[in-house]
Amino acid sequence: MQILINEVKYWMTEAGEMLKSALLENQLVVDTKSSRTDLVTNLDKAIQDFIVSKIATFDPTAKILAEENDRDRLEDVTGRVYIIDPIDGTMNFVLEGENFCIMVAVYEDGKGILGFVYDVMKNEFLWGGPSVGVFRDEERLAQPLDLGLEDGLLGVNTKMYRENVRDIQQVTQQAMGVRMSGCAGVELNHMVMGRRVGYISNLAPWDYAAGGVLIEAMGMKMSRIDGKPLDLQDRQHFLAATPTAYQQILTITQGNEE
Ligand code: IPD
Ligand code: CA
Ligand code: CA
Ligand code: CA
Repeated sequence: MQILINEVKYWMTEAGEMLKSALLENQLVVDTKSSRTDLVTNLDKAIQDFIVSKIATFDPTAKILAEENDRDRLEDVTGRVYIIDPIDGTMNFVLEGENFCIMVAVYEDGKGILGFVYDVMKNEFLWGGPSVGVFRDEERLAQPLDLGLEDGLLGVNTKMYRENVRDIQQVTQQAMGVRMSGCAGVELNHMVMGRRVGYISNLAPWDYAAGGVLIEAMGMKMSRIDGKPLDLQDRQHFLAATPTAYQQILTITQGNEE
């Protein structure tokens, strides 16, 4: 396990350096995917190719699920699966030059064993899993307090908030405050560090796989917004929260069908 951890950290640190120098040297080529607001850059693809090539050498029989380059579906998730989001928060990467993450998760037979979320510009590299604990760099992190909605910040997805999907506006009224960072990795890192009581979004597996391993290892909850289990096949309405906030949010949203 330690060799695997060291490898993944090393790949991601190198990938972070590639992103920092691309920003400094203004090397971005920006394109769109499904819509005007769905951005992808040459770096999303290059970083993914870089990590995929490292996995191919280090762990050649493993499967890979990743956002770009036609790797975004995996029918069979048995065995070891690496789940990669090369740049989470591409719009932030392009427009802000910060608040984006590189994320890698390692799953075994559908269960997360390791998650790595690297907020590159904040230099916040969180990693860990159920058997090893959760760390920031080499420092082991304590479990955050189980705060309720009224005592903390809730991260939400902008489009879901605007459209009041799943009564999300009612949920936000109970929170101490609401934040929209535009990056799932940033939000899940905030939860791990005790800076958020929850996060509601519309996410694909690579958006939550790595951070999800960390928040569950920290005793927090994660599911579809209707309380049903997440699966690695589809984009879903996603809920993660402290145990107390999770129950409060489900009380409001329960009963709504996906
Ligand atoms: C997106 C970000 C965003 C979330 C979107 C994701 P991407 O990921 O995590 O916060 O609201 O649903 O698709 O496309 O920038 O990797
Ligand atoms: Ca994307
Ligand atoms: Ca993403
Ligand atoms: Ca991405």
